[in-house]
Amino acid sequence: MTRYIYLNGTILPEEQAHVSPFDIGLLRGYAVFDLLRTVGGRPFLLDEHLERLHNSASQLGLRVPVSDAEIATAIGELLKLNGHAEATVRLVLTGGVSPDGMAYDPSAPTFFILTHDLHEPAPELYERGGRLVTELHHRELPKAKTTNYLTMLRNKPRTAAADALDVLYHDGSLVSETGSASFYVVSEGRIRAPHEDVLWGTVGDLVLRLAAHRFPIELGELRLDEVFAADEAFITSTTRGVLPIVEIDSRKIGDGEVGPVTRELMAIWTRHAFGEDGAKR
Ligand SMILES: Cc1ncc(COP(=O)(O)O)c(C=O)c1O
Repeated sequence: MTRYIYLNGTILPEEQAHVSPFDIGLLRGYAVFDLLRTVGGRPFLLDEHLERLHNSASQLGLRVPVSDAEIATAIGELLKLNGHAEATVRLVLTGGVSPDGMAYDPSAPTFFILTHDLHEPAPELYERGGRLVTELHHRELPKAKTTNYLTMLRNKPRTAAADALDVLYHDGSLVSETGSASFYVVSEGRIRAPHEDVLWGTVGDLVLRLAAHRFPIELGELRLDEVFAADEAFITSTTRGVLPIVEIDSRKIGDGEVGPVTRELMAIWTRHAFGEDGAKR
């Protein structure tokens, strides 16, 4: 089945959707994006993702060239044409064509929207929990969702060999986030998360707001040694929701089982996103 793509104002079949080889997003990685999912076939947390896209763009001195209303309409059209059961929607903004590979015109960016089939982790993973491996790394422009995922991707063989889901970034002392998700621990009933120098996660933000009346929440610095001493750990992201982490670098977190606070947050998230009994799933 032909897949349709929105590119610079037009919806085109994939075969006709061409980006220039001189695009500075390709030549220099000068690009940002955002990724949202559908629930019941409809974009979920669209406003939050658009707000983050605008924020990422402004950190690169770029501007999304079309209105939020036009983006919403284009997403609706693509979802109809591409016929996914549930989808992820990727909004990509680059600095545009750069004839010399250096200069670019911020008033002529490249902006495209892709849709993919949604792939969610297997339900068993939420029962037994997942693993992470640590990696010394600090994301450049951490509050922007740039397209630079080099460190996560070049670590894929290592994460696969450890049967891990992702890399957990730290600077030798402080933890920030994983390659593609927000990271949290639970210590003595308190939910703790790094706050500075991380990407604001749409799912994490919502879950913490929903859970704020149930648990104390501390946003601030989180040290690696505190992570290993924590009772529970979990990650949040658009495609994974709330996912428990029970082992990091082959060391158990808490008793190595999914803990009660994480379970409650998973339930809060599922109810909010998918309705009672997961009816919208
Ligand atoms: C580096 C990074 N941090 C955090 C997140 C979590 O963000 P969200 O909950 O909006 O998916 C993501 C995923 O997009 C990410 O790539």
